[in-house]
Amino acid sequence: MKDNRSNSQLVLENVSHSFGELHVIKDLNITVEQGELVVLVGPSGCGKTTLLNLLSGHIKPISGNVKREGIIRTVYQQDGLFPWLTVSENILMGLRSISDTAIQEQELRELFELIHLTGFENHYPHELSGGMRQRVELARAIAGDSDILLMDEPFSALDYQTRLRLRRELLRLLAKRPRTVVFVTHDIEEAVQLADRILILSKRPAYVCSELQIEAQHPRSLDNPSVITAMKTILDELGLHTSSDLDVSEFNNLTTQ
Ligand SMILES: Nc1ncnc2c1ncn2[C@@H]1O[C@H](COP(=O)(O)OP(=O)(O)OP(=O)(O)O)[C@@H](O)[C@H]1O
Ligand SMILES: [Mg+2]
Repeated sequence: MKDNRSNSQLVLENVSHSFGELHVIKDLNITVEQGELVVLVGPSGCGKTTLLNLLSGHIKPISGNVKREGIIRTVYQQDGLFPWLTVSENILMGLRSISDTAIQEQELRELFELIHLTGFENHYPHELSGGMRQRVELARAIAGDSDILLMDEPFSALDYQTRLRLRRELLRLLAKRPRTVVFVTHDIEEAVQLADRILILSKRPAYVCSELQIEAQHPRSLDNPSVITAMKTILDELGLHTSSDLDVSEFNNLTTQ
């Protein structure tokens, strides 16, 4: 019989997790296919970061199984770079598995071109803007032979314009170097512009209360009718869609509280 999970890189089977008496994750079943970009949205404190930590193996579930195949890299909201290392040295952390220094250097050059930061190799993180630092994080995450990116609100600390730009950057990087991605965000616009599939999590203890496949082609403009419909659906699911006149910025404010 054909194994219909042969292409799956991340599988959670009946996973539950608690911190002491606090039940955070309840009987979760999630499968992420190779090359898929899955976005998780859900109320604050529902267990999204915990879920990423379970996926990465950082924490072990109290029950259920987690299966992962491949090298995992994580990108956090901010300050994931080592402040005492230069930008090059930070990205080299993602290239440790390459022993040939000539290949390492070539890869490093390519990554700097990809993130448009050629010339900043010897700068330290504090000498860069927040958006530039997150681009360095992206480069480190996709460097070398990584397979899976777990991204926890990677752009949420940035201003709106930079967030828009980095969404495009991420999609461009992934087109050049496909990876499997699980991306957490509170920003519904961001979720719909990036995702192949959106999983909407319930309040704690979190389970998947709804799932949405997004078929619209990239780039997805915010006035694209299927983008607007998807955003309305998510807001409905989160219990936030109170008016028929959708004002997206207003709703994003609500969901980032
Ligand atoms: N190491 C821990 N020890 C005890 N409780 C924890 C621990 N990590 C998380 N929690 C609790 O588990 C719950 C879920 O936390 P988590 O950080 O996963 O939520 P989240 O959905 O990522 O929230 P946010 O949207 O605000 O980032 C919270 O109530 C949090 O206080
Ligand atoms: Mg979190």
